[in-house]
Amino acid sequence: MENQSVSSTQRRFFLTVVLAAIGAALAFLAGWPLLRFLTPLKQDGNDGRVALDRGSVEVGGVLFFSYRGGTAVVMQMAPGEFTAFSAICTHLGCVVQWKPQQQEFVCPCHAGRFSPAGAVLGGPPPKPLVSLPVTLSGEQLLIG
Ligand code: FES
Repeated sequence: MENQSVSSTQRRFFLTVVLAAIGAALAFLAGWPLLRFLTPLKQDGNDGRVALDRGSVEVGGVLFFSYRGGTAVVMQMAPGEFTAFSAICTHLGCVVQWKPQQQEFVCPCHAGRFSPAGAVLGGPPPKPLVSLPVTLSGEQLLIG
Protein backbone atom coordinates (compact mmCIF):
# COMPACT_ATOMS: atom_id res chain seq x y z
CA MET A 1 0.00 0.00 0.00
CA GLU A 2 2.79 2.42 0.90
CA ASN A 3 4.61 1.49 -2.30
CA GLN A 4 1.55 2.47 -4.34
CA SER A 5 1.37 5.88 -2.56
CA VAL A 6 5.02 6.68 -3.40
CA SER A 7 4.45 5.53 -6.94
CA SER A 8 1.41 7.77 -7.25
CA THR A 9 3.38 10.77 -5.93
CA GLN A 10 6.20 10.10 -8.35
CA ARG A 11 3.74 9.76 -11.22
CA ARG A 12 2.08 13.06 -10.26
CA PHE A 13 5.49 14.79 -10.10
CA PHE A 14 6.48 13.32 -13.47
CA LEU A 15 3.21 14.46 -15.08
CA THR A 16 3.64 17.93 -13.56
CA VAL A 17 7.15 18.23 -15.01
CA VAL A 18 6.03 16.98 -18.43
CA LEU A 19 3.02 19.33 -18.52
CA ALA A 20 5.19 22.26 -17.40
CA ALA A 21 7.70 21.49 -20.16
CA ILE A 22 4.93 21.27 -22.77
CA GLY A 23 3.40 24.50 -21.47
CA ALA A 24 6.76 26.28 -21.61
CA ALA A 25 7.33 25.04 -25.19
CA LEU A 26 3.88 26.19 -26.29
CA ALA A 27 4.34 29.57 -24.60
CA PHE A 28 7.68 30.00 -26.38
CA LEU A 29 6.18 29.07 -29.76
CA ALA A 30 3.24 31.41 -29.26
CA GLY A 31 5.43 34.27 -28.05
CA TRP A 32 8.15 33.97 -30.70
CA PRO A 33 6.36 35.98 -33.41
CA LEU A 34 5.60 38.72 -30.89
CA LEU A 35 9.22 38.76 -29.75
CA ARG A 36 10.43 39.00 -33.37
CA PHE A 37 7.96 41.81 -34.01
CA LEU A 38 9.14 43.81 -31.01
CA THR A 39 12.86 43.27 -31.63
CA PRO A 40 14.33 46.04 -33.77
CA LEU A 41 15.95 45.03 -37.04
CA LYS A 42 19.72 45.12 -37.18
CA GLN A 43 20.99 48.42 -38.46
CA ASP A 44 23.70 48.51 -41.11
CA GLY A 45 25.11 51.83 -39.92
CA ASN A 46 23.24 53.77 -42.62
CA ASP A 47 20.19 54.63 -40.52
CA GLY A 48 18.07 52.11 -42.40
CA ARG A 49 19.11 53.47 -45.76
CA VAL A 50 20.28 51.13 -48.49
CA ALA A 51 23.83 51.65 -49.75
CA LEU A 52 24.49 50.85 -53.39
CA ASP A 53 27.58 51.25 -55.52
CA ARG A 54 27.20 54.36 -57.64
CA GLY A 55 28.67 52.48 -60.60
CA SER A 56 26.00 49.79 -60.41
CA VAL A 57 23.49 52.13 -62.08
CA GLU A 58 24.38 52.99 -65.67
CA VAL A 59 23.44 56.32 -67.20
CA GLY A 60 19.97 55.77 -68.64
CA GLY A 61 19.63 52.57 -66.65
CA VAL A 62 17.64 51.39 -63.68
CA LEU A 63 18.46 49.08 -60.81
CA PHE A 64 15.82 47.29 -58.75
CA PHE A 65 16.80 46.39 -55.20
CA SER A 66 15.30 45.13 -51.95
CA TYR A 67 14.11 47.93 -49.74
CA ARG A 68 12.53 47.53 -46.31
CA GLY A 69 10.85 44.26 -47.14
CA GLY A 70 9.72 45.41 -50.57
CA THR A 71 11.25 46.45 -53.85
CA ALA A 72 12.57 49.84 -54.91
CA VAL A 73 14.28 51.15 -58.00
CA VAL A 74 17.01 53.70 -58.58
CA MET A 75 17.72 55.25 -61.95
CA GLN A 76 20.30 57.56 -63.45
CA MET A 77 18.61 59.40 -66.32
CA ALA A 78 21.49 61.88 -66.75
CA PRO A 79 25.09 61.56 -65.53
CA GLY A 80 25.12 62.07 -61.77
CA GLU A 81 21.34 62.56 -61.51
CA PHE A 82 19.90 59.73 -59.46
CA THR A 83 16.27 59.28 -58.54
CA ALA A 84 14.72 56.46 -56.55
CA PHE A 85 11.19 55.22 -56.02
CA SER A 86 9.38 52.46 -54.29
CA ALA A 87 8.66 49.95 -57.06
CA ILE A 88 5.36 49.05 -55.42
CA CYS A 89 2.40 50.07 -57.57
CA THR A 90 0.09 52.46 -55.78
CA HIS A 91 -3.00 50.62 -57.06
CA LEU A 92 -2.87 47.20 -55.42
CA GLY A 93 0.80 46.72 -54.63
CA CYS A 94 2.32 44.78 -57.53
CA VAL A 95 5.97 45.43 -58.40
CA VAL A 96 6.30 47.63 -61.46
CA GLN A 97 8.68 46.84 -64.32
CA TRP A 98 10.85 49.23 -66.30
CA LYS A 99 10.18 49.27 -70.04
CA PRO A 100 13.23 50.92 -71.65
CA GLN A 101 11.60 51.08 -75.10
CA GLN A 102 8.71 53.17 -73.78
CA GLN A 103 10.80 54.87 -71.07
CA GLU A 104 8.14 54.17 -68.47
CA PHE A 105 7.28 51.87 -65.61
CA VAL A 106 4.46 49.43 -66.30
CA CYS A 107 2.56 47.47 -63.71
CA PRO A 108 2.06 43.87 -64.84
CA CYS A 109 -1.14 43.43 -62.81
CA HIS A 110 -3.56 45.98 -64.29
CA ALA A 111 -1.37 47.82 -66.80
CA GLY A 112 -0.83 50.92 -64.69
CA ARG A 113 1.81 53.17 -66.24
CA PHE A 114 4.24 55.59 -64.59
CA SER A 115 6.70 58.11 -66.02
CA PRO A 116 10.43 57.98 -65.18
CA ALA A 117 9.62 60.64 -62.58
CA GLY A 118 7.06 58.29 -61.00
CA ALA A 119 3.95 60.21 -62.16
CA VAL A 120 0.87 58.26 -63.20
CA LEU A 121 0.54 58.10 -67.01
CA GLY A 122 -2.43 55.79 -67.22
CA GLY A 123 -4.34 52.90 -65.76
CA PRO A 124 -5.87 52.52 -62.33
CA PRO A 125 -3.05 53.70 -59.99
CA PRO A 126 -4.43 56.59 -57.92
CA LYS A 127 -1.09 58.12 -56.92
CA PRO A 128 2.49 58.45 -58.20
CA LEU A 129 5.19 56.03 -57.16
CA VAL A 130 6.57 56.93 -53.74
CA SER A 131 9.78 58.90 -54.15
CA LEU A 132 12.82 57.98 -52.02
CA PRO A 133 15.62 60.38 -51.13
CA VAL A 134 19.01 59.62 -52.70
CA THR A 135 22.24 60.91 -51.16
CA LEU A 136 25.66 60.60 -52.73
CA SER A 137 28.35 59.57 -50.28
CA GLY A 138 31.65 59.13 -52.10
CA GLU A 139 31.09 56.29 -54.54
CA GLN A 140 27.97 55.12 -52.75
CA LEU A 141 24.32 55.97 -53.15
CA LEU A 142 22.42 56.06 -49.87
CA ILE A 143 18.73 55.54 -50.52
CA GLY A 144 15.89 55.96 -48.11
S1 FES B 1 -1.62 46.79 -59.01
FE1 FES B 1 -0.64 48.06 -60.43
S2 FES B 1 -2.20 48.68 -61.74
FE2 FES B 1 -3.20 47.43 -60.33
